[in-house]
Amino acid sequence: MKIKVLLPAALLALLVGAFAAANFGDSVFARSPQKSMMVDGVRYAAPSPNEAPASIRAAVMLGYNIMNDPQKYVSQYVGDSVTCSSCHFNGGISPGGKNGGLSLVGVAAKYPAYRSRSGQVDDIIARTNACFLRSMNGKALPPDSKEMVAIVTYFHWISKGIPIYGRIPWLGLKHIESRHKPNAVAGKKVFTQTCVACHGMDGQGTKIAPPLWGKYSFNDGAGMAHLQNFAAFVHDNMPYQVSNLTPDQALDVAAYVTAQPRPHFVK
Ligand code: HEC
Ligand code: HEC
Repeated sequence: MKIKVLLPAALLALLVGAFAAANFGDSVFARSPQKSMMVDGVRYAAPSPNEAPASIRAAVMLGYNIMNDPQKYVSQYVGDSVTCSSCHFNGGISPGGKNGGLSLVGVAAKYPAYRSRSGQVDDIIARTNACFLRSMNGKALPPDSKEMVAIVTYFHWISKGIPIYGRIPWLGLKHIESRHKPNAVAGKKVFTQTCVACHGMDGQGTKIAPPLWGKYSFNDGAGMAHLQNFAAFVHDNMPYQVSNLTPDQALDVAAYVTAQPRPHFVK
């Protein structure tokens, strides 16, 4: 079923030049998601949103749609022009790793969890709202809103079969281990040579890729605004579907981009 939908999209993407036609929010469809595989000794087998049982399918689909287009479904809670899927590729339905973006498969089995940032135990709603406040430079969704319930239902569905508090190796950023001192001057070169084509000369985004700084980017309180996090994400995922930067290049470009202006997070 899924293949039928994915193949024409992939062909289309090839025909018109991998990215030229697709809005960056659609670009996830050019990739065929891995259905089942072993990751570091743990079985990864995320179900598709449309396979959800009838009783929760509408909520799961709304949750998935919000991840891919929050500007459409929860516009009043979003202050920038990235989507959840800009970082959590394909709504987080991914085994992570190289070119997978930040997975969210199993995330419902990971929370409630202690977070050093808030110094308290956060549940999945609080953790989701942290990304609304910071990564989306927006506002917290009311916990009992239809939309938050949809997102949480979606997270539970894509966490199907994952044992609560089990080890989930594909979650989270894999930090770069290097003694290299990040150099923003070298990073500017990396940016000009490898990022500009999609993210634009001034990092403000284009039709094919979201912004990296400026008014419409994630704010300075976001996880992605931290040099080490940015470097880890870029090393595994950028340039898009190629991800061939060396660890040092990723650290350098992270030093350059995280030093650029972006909205300020107000607590
Ligand atoms: C600019 C990039 C970015 C965007 C956009 C973004 N996130 Fe995140 N998100 C992150 C980072 C970075 C983390 C922390 C990953 C880690 O723990 O290593 C994270 C973590 C999470 C987690 C917890 C995952 C875990 O493993 O503990 C959830 C849930 C989440 N995000 C939901 C969302 C939702 C919902 C949206 C859209 C409303 C969103 N995120 C948008 C970057 C982003
Ligand atoms: C071939 C086009 C392309 C190139 C080149 C590219 N990106 Fe991206 N980038 C994307 C797309 C597309 C997304 C969103 C992915 C999605 O929605 O599935 C993205 C997302 C991102 C994100 C997370 C969302 C955001 O905007 O904050 C970061 C950070 C990022 N890219 C950094 C970089 C850096 C740094 C480089 C250069 C080393 C780079 N990218 C090169 C296409 C590209």
